Parts: sequence; C-alpha cells; structure tokens
Amino acid sequence: MNSVLIFDSGVGGLSVFQEVTKLMPEQHIIYAFDNAAFPYGELPDDVLVNRVCGMVAAICAEHDISLVVIACNTASTIVLTPLREQLSIPIVGVVPAIKPAAAKSNKKKIGLLATPATVKRDYTQQLVKDFAPDCEVTMIGSTELVQMGEAKLRGVAVNNAVLENVLSPFMGHVDCVVLGCTHFPLLKPEIEAALGSECLVVDSGEAIANRVACLLNEKGDQKASSKGKNKHWVFSSASVKDEIALNQEMAKFGFSEIKRAPIF
Ligand code: DGL
Repeated sequence: MNSVLIFDSGVGGLSVFQEVTKLMPEQHIIYAFDNAAFPYGELPDDVLVNRVCGMVAAICAEHDISLVVIACNTASTIVLTPLREQLSIPIVGVVPAIKPAAAKSNKKKIGLLATPATVKRDYTQQLVKDFAPDCEVTMIGSTELVQMGEAKLRGVAVNNAVLENVLSPFMGHVDCVVLGCTHFPLLKPEIEAALGSECLVVDSGEAIANRVACLLNEKGDQKASSKGKNKHWVFSSASVKDEIALNQEMAKFGFSEIKRAPIF
C-alpha cells in the first residue's frame, strides 16, 4: 500500500493532514509525531536533524511510503537537505507563506508567527529577503502558542487573554499574518478573532496538499486506502496510552490506535 507519511513533533501536522485528505480522500496516510522531543522549536539544530532523519528513515524502512511530508516548519528549515540525501522518495517540506502574504498585504507590513527556532533561522531570513523585500516583517516566535495548539486538540479551551498578549506586536500594525508553524492553523479561528477582520491570516496547508497531489500524480502512485473507520495509521515516539483525549481525537480524524514508532 503506497502510504504518504506526514511527520511533525506533535499534532500540528494534522493541519496539513486535513488539507491533504480534503484533496485526496482515498489516500492512505501514516501520521508520525516525535512527542518524546517536543517542542522542536526549543531543540538544538543537530539534535533536531538527527531525530527527524532517524525517525522518518525508520518508518520508511518498515512501511511502503511513496512520499514524505515534513509537516513542521521548524524541521523543514534544516532537515530537508540531509533527508533528501538519505531517502530516494519525494520529501515535501513546509515553508512559511511569506511570498503570498507579501503579495496580499496592502500596507506592506506583514507578521510572521512561528516557533522561536524558525524566526531565528537563516532560511527564514532569506525567505523574507527573497520574497518580501518591500515589506516590513514583524516576527513572533512562540512556544506558548504551540502548547496551546496541542492543548486545544485535547479539548482544552484556548485562553484568549494569553493569545492576545502573544499577538500584541501585530495589533493595529500588520494587515497580513503568516502562520509559520503547523500547530497554528489549529488555532486559526481564535487567532483571526484576536487580530480582527482587517487582518488576513494565511498558512501553507493548501499549497502543501497541492504539491503532494501533483507529485503523486506524476509518480502515478496515488492508491486507494483501506476504507471506513480507523483507516489511517499513527505512530508516536513516546507512549500516549494514558492520553485518552488525544486518542479519542485521533480516532475522530480516522486514525487507528496510536502505536509506538519503530526504533530509530
Ligand atoms: N509544528 C511545528 C512547526 O511547524 C513544530 C512546533 C514545535 O514542536 O515547536 O514548526
């Protein structure tokens, strides 16, 4: 069965999973998350590269994977080159949507909301230089919001006062905000409400799904998945047996029981 592997540190990659399955409802997905090393936005670069390459390669060695999506901006900024050297299948990364935001912003003042690591990386600075040279870019790196996305998926209500406090540097200043972390589309309604209707909020989910569809069509690899409930598979690096809310939520997304990832 030609599966697509979608990988993240936690549940953020589910925002990409949703876009991929919207476009390709029949595609079988394996979702893997490295919760043992979460949050990635706080990890040293070398640790992050080793973990992502190790875990993705181990899953690809055990399963029939036709394409990998690194559904994590923090990891994509540094792991794509080493991972592509290691694996011969297509690897799709997630890049903050700076280019579309620059095109959409009337004021030419955009905001980037990402992890502390992503806002610091050369990759991101270069993206801004290449695609938003005429824009003033305000960057916020927040692990607190990543945790909030994790909590929301487990049924915990979003604390809007905390959210507004994190977003305050954008308020009344930018007219377009890029969600440069895959956890943040999970908070999109709350972020949009906090920023107000004058501010546009963009993310890369749909573009990634289009890229995946295009590559699979080129390879002729898009295959029907097993149908019905629990049709997709999910692996984590640390046990989540006790996390009842997470297991229930993953089941709603169509995943079978969360299993431990192969040793890497
Ligand atoms: N969802 C990830 C991203 O897009 C990582 C968040 C984290 O683990 O810090 O950057």
